[in-house]
Amino acid sequence: MAETKKLLRVLAGEVLDTPPIWMMRQAGRYLPEYRATRAQAGDFLSLCYNPELAAEVTLQPIRRYGFDAAILFADILLVPQALGADLWFETGEGPRLSTIGAQADFDRLKPVEAIHETLAPIYETVRILTRELPSETALIGFAGAPWTVATYMIAGRGTPDQGPAHALREGNPALFDALIERLTAATIEYLSAQIEAGAEVVKIFDSWAGSLKGEAFTKYALEPCREITKALKERHPGIPVIGFPREAGEGYVGFAKATGVDCVALDNSVTPDWAAAHVQVDGCVQGNLASSHMVTGGQALVDETRRIVEAFSKGPHIFNLGHGITPDADPANVQLMIDTVREG
Ligand code: CP3
Repeated sequence: MAETKKLLRVLAGEVLDTPPIWMMRQAGRYLPEYRATRAQAGDFLSLCYNPELAAEVTLQPIRRYGFDAAILFADILLVPQALGADLWFETGEGPRLSTIGAQADFDRLKPVEAIHETLAPIYETVRILTRELPSETALIGFAGAPWTVATYMIAGRGTPDQGPAHALREGNPALFDALIERLTAATIEYLSAQIEAGAEVVKIFDSWAGSLKGEAFTKYALEPCREITKALKERHPGIPVIGFPREAGEGYVGFAKATGVDCVALDNSVTPDWAAAHVQVDGCVQGNLASSHMVTGGQALVDETRRIVEAFSKGPHIFNLGHGITPDADPANVQLMIDTVREG
């Protein structure tokens, strides 16, 4: 049967009159229905590990807006937790983890095979979604890329410049490489289990790829993404993979060819015209409206949305933001963006 889901058609290289659209963090605090379900769950992590409620918040933006794809509701930091790190969220501040600074911290981590014990509820969320999603909506699974996840594990929190991770990478490369290797193997197992449960696409979020330069970018952003993609495609032939080496800049050029990903997600620090000429020449791209437009709206949102659709109209394109939607976004601006993409 010919593929009918628009997202999967575009990932296979088709060019459609209207690009499929979804949004990073589409299930989130800007939606009143998300805040209500989250309150019911208790805290954010309890929501992630409650399959019924996690499926419910995944479906909320699909019901409200009819996006072409749903993204599994979970978090990139569940993998370190499954490997034995302590994880909690400080209200208004963000994630906190036990840190990895020395060999002894690494030695306390669990082996890769142990992750499924913690992550089983996530696979159950995927199974519920495969039953409950509309037939035209594709289901995206995801994981953090090893480098980005390592930056949180090493610092024990988000950092503006990933300083602690860079310090370990330079000061104790053997330990750093062992951590990247463990995370690469865990990510392959985690994404593979999501695919077995019903994820139709997977996305690898490397939010801090932009702070790796030159050879370090090749070794720690490009190479792990290539390894993960290769292993997934060996085990699940045909599974489409989206790579997101955020703020890679020139590093976006050739990234799809070098890693084997089917689509490169673009942040909004690159212009659509540049990206069409230098990245979309190799295949599908995703992006890249600045998420600030979801706060400010108006004619600027409409103009910029049209400019992006037009710039990427000659090749396969998935419309998205350049990064996650923020809690202060106005849900009406999301509708305006969707109407502009779909009605021109
Ligand atoms: O996109 C989606 O809707 C799917 C779910 C998803 C979440 N986080 C839910 C979430 C995805 C794909 C992520 C990825 C993620 N998580 C990344 C990579 C993408 C990016 O944004 O760069 C990172 C770095 C994380 C780590 C993380 N999780 C941070 C730094 C925070 C705190 C930030 C904050 O706004 O408080 C989270 C929490 C988080 N993950 C929320 C959501 C909806 C907010 C939690 C809440 O309800 O309070």
